[in-house]
Amino acid sequence: MFPSPASVARPQPAGVQSAASLACAPPLSDAARRLGVLPMPNLAWTPEVEAATAHLYEKVKAVMPPVEWPFHAPYVKAINELKKERNAVILAHNYQTPEIYNCVADVVGDSLQLAKLASQSKADIIVQGGVHFMAETSKLLSPEKIVLIPDARAGCSLAESITGADVRALRAKYPGVPVVAYVNTSADVKAEVDICCTSSNALKVVESLGSDRVIFLPDKYLAKNVQAQTKVQIIAWEGACEVHERFTAAEMLRYRADDPSITIIAHPECPPEVVEVSDFAGSTAAMIDYVKTKKPKRVLLVTECSMADNVATETTGTEFVRPCNLCPHMKRITLPKILESLIYLREEIVIEPALAVRARRSVQAMIDLG
Ligand code: 13P
Ligand code: SF4
Repeated sequence: MFPSPASVARPQPAGVQSAASLACAPPLSDAARRLGVLPMPNLAWTPEVEAATAHLYEKVKAVMPPVEWPFHAPYVKAINELKKERNAVILAHNYQTPEIYNCVADVVGDSLQLAKLASQSKADIIVQGGVHFMAETSKLLSPEKIVLIPDARAGCSLAESITGADVRALRAKYPGVPVVAYVNTSADVKAEVDICCTSSNALKVVESLGSDRVIFLPDKYLAKNVQAQTKVQIIAWEGACEVHERFTAAEMLRYRADDPSITIIAHPECPPEVVEVSDFAGSTAAMIDYVKTKKPKRVLLVTECSMADNVATETTGTEFVRPCNLCPHMKRITLPKILESLIYLREEIVIEPALAVRARRSVQAMIDLG
């Protein structure tokens, strides 16, 4: 079924570093100085690797042709072994690629689920399969753990749209109005706000504050989508997700005209016109639940591309139509970078302690809301 070991040339997928490039790798993290660097495992595609990973290929075979597996399998095996050696867990967001989501992640979920699980994990090390703000949130909730992001450049257009100084200016402009920050923000911003929210609890958080006006940042579309469901007056920031803002209602209506029975489900970071023509809008976890429980025959997933692949690995009987857009930040995380993260304990998330105390308060306020 798979190509023979001899026919699989090394090195393999994009992101792999040669021994020469590792020689000029960045300085060791504090964690690596304390716990040491591990040797690079053998990454050959061998009969032993094939046998050890066959059960994992079964999980992704619906979305991955056999010819691809020999490139992933040696990393999958090595990462799963190193996780045990390091007492590490991998928390993967629903937008991670299928080989990460299905084959090395210990926990998968939306932002809220990952944040909660970060605070409950018994591991010494968390490797965040996701973007930088997610790793920072994990560090805030588990300050005693080593939290690693396999590529520190994995950012987010929302998190980059606002700073702590911007929040202070908003507070000066609207004195006494409570401030809600989407978790897609830096620790610097979280330190300035009253409470955080995710796409799965935004409405509940806004209404929990008992105020007739709330500043909601940084996603203007999520703000409008929440505004459509509440009497609380929302003052929004002008940020947007570069992935979801590209979807249009006209595009959705064309799909609907081609197939009136199609089910359209969208992420609430999409513009309100897109949400309005959808049958359902919810966080990535809520979208997955919707497909699993309602089992639509044909579904249009209006979100990042890996979602459809990941739901397809867990469901049968649903046809996925994928008008998807790729998140370039999520896609910076690859198996080779996760492996290096475990070997070199990098990139370590470090948050200045006084800032962390203030930022944790707003994340914890959201979690305490239940
Ligand atoms: P969810 O919380 O719905 O997973 O979305 C967060 C997000 O922005 C992923 O990019
Ligand atoms: Fe940020 Fe959008 Fe990418 Fe999510 S999908 S990480 S909101 S840019």
